[in-house]
Amino acid sequence: MKIAIVTGSSGLIGSESVKFLLKKNYQVIGIDNNFRKYFFGKDGDTSWQLKKLKKLKYFKNYFYDIRNYKKLEKIFIRNKNKIDTIIHCAAQPSHDWATKEPLTDFSINANGTLNLLELTRIFTPKAKFIFLSTNKVYGDTPNKINLRESKFRYNPRDKKLLGNGISENMSIDNSKHSIFGSSKVAADILVQEYGKYFNLNTVCFRGGCLTGPSHSGAKLHGFLSYLVKCCLTNKPYTIYGYKGKQVRDNIHSNDLVNMIWEFIKKPTKGDVYNVGGGVKNSCSILEAIYLIEKITKKKLKFNISKSNRIGDHIWYISDLRKFKNKYPRWKMKYNLNKIISEIVKEQTKIK
Ligand SMILES: NC(=O)c1ccc[n+]([C@@H]2O[C@H](COP(=O)([O-])OP(=O)(O)OC[C@H]3O[C@@H](n4cnc5c(N)ncnc54)[C@H](O)[C@@H]3O)[C@@H](O)[C@H]2O)c1
Repeated sequence: MKIAIVTGSSGLIGSESVKFLLKKNYQVIGIDNNFRKYFFGKDGDTSWQLKKLKKLKYFKNYFYDIRNYKKLEKIFIRNKNKIDTIIHCAAQPSHDWATKEPLTDFSINANGTLNLLELTRIFTPKAKFIFLSTNKVYGDTPNKINLRESKFRYNPRDKKLLGNGISENMSIDNSKHSIFGSSKVAADILVQEYGKYFNLNTVCFRGGCLTGPSHSGAKLHGFLSYLVKCCLTNKPYTIYGYKGKQVRDNIHSNDLVNMIWEFIKKPTKGDVYNVGGGVKNSCSILEAIYLIEKITKKKLKFNISKSNRIGDHIWYISDLRKFKNKYPRWKMKYNLNKIISEIVKEQTKIK
């Protein structure tokens, strides 16, 4: 059996990757210490997901911290040259949380990534290394786009941007990144460099909004999942700024893991791709609320604060053309309706 390591294996993308690779007959080593609970409290607790995964044959989770090089090294030594794939999803994922503890954020996102790259280079250099990066590497540059305001959302005036989204050609320089964006930039550049400089099979997937029923949605991270949670539990939701018309593109974790699979089958060295739901799966927060209310048949209590989150994107949609040109077999299966319906179904079960 081929061996894969998945970090952040109890999280949204990690757990989807574990289930996917097991179906492809991999033996999967998970690394997750449930730090999401430390970041976001009860809502972020991923132990429910681990409990489900533990029942699966050929999966084993290590409760290790990716900052602990020595512990990770044990796993790599034991599986020297036998690891086929590493999907690196463990992270401090929140823009806002990072400002509370910049040292923790950087040590997990940047140093933790460097630990894994270095161990890959030393012990299993032929492996494929997939890094979940973020659109926050572009900082607030997307906010310089000239926008038109309509009743429920903002849209760019530029027709090409409106039709395609933001491509990998956007500069990552000269913008406000946030502390989180900076630690992810550091990791993103390292991942590219281990591909270009050391010839490893690395890739950065710069995510828009990644979502799905496996998310442990919390106030500070997991936008759609948390919106549904608030709607189902009658918890009031606060929209930060931009009149609720800020636009995000949303991709189901299964569609994203299928993208990762295309890379595993045909790897390159040090590439970057913007990945997200694209134009078709985009919505403003107001539009997302409308859809959720329609599906749940419940009203969400929400208010809109005047001030926005620092550097928060007003309009961001991933341009998927670079990925689709390289991997034309990949097709998106989940539209927004299907994504939200699945999230609602899962959360109704948990309740
Ligand atoms: N979800 C999104 O909208 C989104 C958007 C863009 C990029 N990303 C990136 O995708 C990746 C996966 O995101 P996700 O939504 O699945 O996140 P998630 O928080 O659901 O999963 C991450 C997992 O990593 C674990 N973890 C955190 N710190 C750890 C540490 N030090 N050691 C071991 N495990 C640790 C957490 O407990 C959690 O289970 C992250 O790198 C994130 O930055 C996510």
